[in-house]
Parts: sequence; C-alpha cells; structure tokens
Amino acid sequence: MTETLREPNELAQELFAPLAETYDRYAFLLSLGQDARWRRFLVERVTAGPEDTVCDVACGTAAISLALARRHGCRIVGIDQSAPMLAEGRRRVEAAGLEDRIRLEEGRAEELPFADGELAALTSGYLLRYVEDPGTTIRELVRVVRPGGTVAALDFGVPPNPVTRAAWRAYVVVGLPFLGGLVSAGWREVGRVLRDSIPSFYARYPLERQLADWRAAGVYDVQARRLSLGGGLVVWGTRA
Ligand SMILES: C[S@@+](CC[C@H](N)C(=O)[O-])C[C@H]1O[C@@H](n2cnc3c(N)ncnc32)[C@H](O)[C@@H]1O
Repeated sequence: MTETLREPNELAQELFAPLAETYDRYAFLLSLGQDARWRRFLVERVTAGPEDTVCDVACGTAAISLALARRHGCRIVGIDQSAPMLAEGRRRVEAAGLEDRIRLEEGRAEELPFADGELAALTSGYLLRYVEDPGTTIRELVRVVRPGGTVAALDFGVPPNPVTRAAWRAYVVVGLPFLGGLVSAGWREVGRVLRDSIPSFYARYPLERQLADWRAAGVYDVQARRLSLGGGLVVWGTRA
C-alpha cells in the first residue's frame, strides 16, 4: 500500500481486525438475518459470465465474492484493506472450492489496482461510510469498469417512513450495541460505530447526492432500491 492511511481507513482497520473469524455469523444475526437477502439482491443486479472478471471492493470475508461466483460463474478479484478479513475470506473461498474463480487481494478502494475499463462489473458492500471522500471513491470504482458493465453498491440505509424509522432507530441506538456487547467487546464497538455512522453518513451525504455522484462519475440508468423497509439500500447502474 503506497499511501498513508487516512482517518476513516484507520477506523475501519481497527474495527474489523478483531472480527474476521466471527464476522459472517454475527453479521447475519445482528442484521436480523437480512444481510444475506441484501447481498442476493445486489448480486442479481450484475450481468457477468464465466469469461468475465468482476471486482468486489471491500470484499471482507468474501460473502459477496462467493455469491457472485455461484450465481454468475465469473472470475472475481476481491479487494480489501484488512489482512485479517482477507485471511478469513480466503479460508471460506477454499472451503467452497472456488480458488480457481476467486482471488482476494489487499488494497484500497481509493486506488484500485486495475486499468481504466478493465473489468466487466464491480460491486461494493458496506464501503462508502468508511472512506474520506465518497464522491472521489465512486469515481475510482467506476473508472475500472468497462462501458456497458454494471456497478452496484450495498449499504445500510435509514428507513424513510417515520414509524419504521423510530423502530429502526431504537434497534440501532439501543439494540445493536447491547446485542453486540453480548458477543464481544469488538462487536459492541461495531454496534456503537454503526449507531453513529449510518445516520451521520446520510446527513452529510444524502441519497440524492450519492445518485448524482454516480451519474457524474459516468454511470447511467442509476437506480436505488430500499430493502427491508429501508434498513438496506442497493444503488446500481451501467457504466457509460
Ligand atoms: C462491513 S465489512 C463488509 C464486507 C463485505 N463486503 C460483506 O458484505 O460482508 C466492510 C469491509 O470494508 C473494508 N474497507 C473499509 N474501507 C475500505 C477501503 N477504503 N478500501 C478497501 N476496503 C475497505 C473493511 O476492511 C471491511 O472488510
């Protein structure tokens, strides 16, 4: 890695390093079983075949990479800045017998190791809240996708309906840190970070601005779908 880590990168490094081995089990439980559905919806947005290479940015323990390989039979290069998350991801890829399809590499979303237009498609899962400048990172994600390729991003959302939002807020503010604390100190910290980072991300970077940034980066037919009453959000479109 060539650049000094900036603050949000450091936060993500510290947050995820102790979680790698338990990440998949507790991410499923703490999202009330919703994250697998959200990833499936994301993966369905991608068009790719066995000859194509798709990049999964912020791949973590390879949940999206594995789903892409199983659904589309494509090759995947997963990029993540966390060595422990990647180590767990490689273990899962080997257990699935998909080493010939999925390669995981250490790297940062802000400077992807690909030429312009090199990839058939790109996904990211839970990335943009952890970067210094989401608009600049979006440009970098789009840069590496060939014209006609899909870019698709998944993250948590904030439910738009006030009643649902009140229930969601109670879960995120009280439930998530509490339940996380029952698992470990690391998961309590995840609960605290999510409690603050989800609402503050949308306050400083509203969905309309995100969609405008995807368009400005060279993506057309940009669409957004809220899932699970708005607790999840997938944005996708086609590289011009
Ligand atoms: C919540 S995990 C999501 C992992 C995976 N996408 C999934 O759906 O399970 C977020 C991941 O983003 C990675 N990450 C955060 N900021 C990053 C950056 N700037 N470049 C690369 N990876 C980053 C973290 O290391 C972590 O593995």
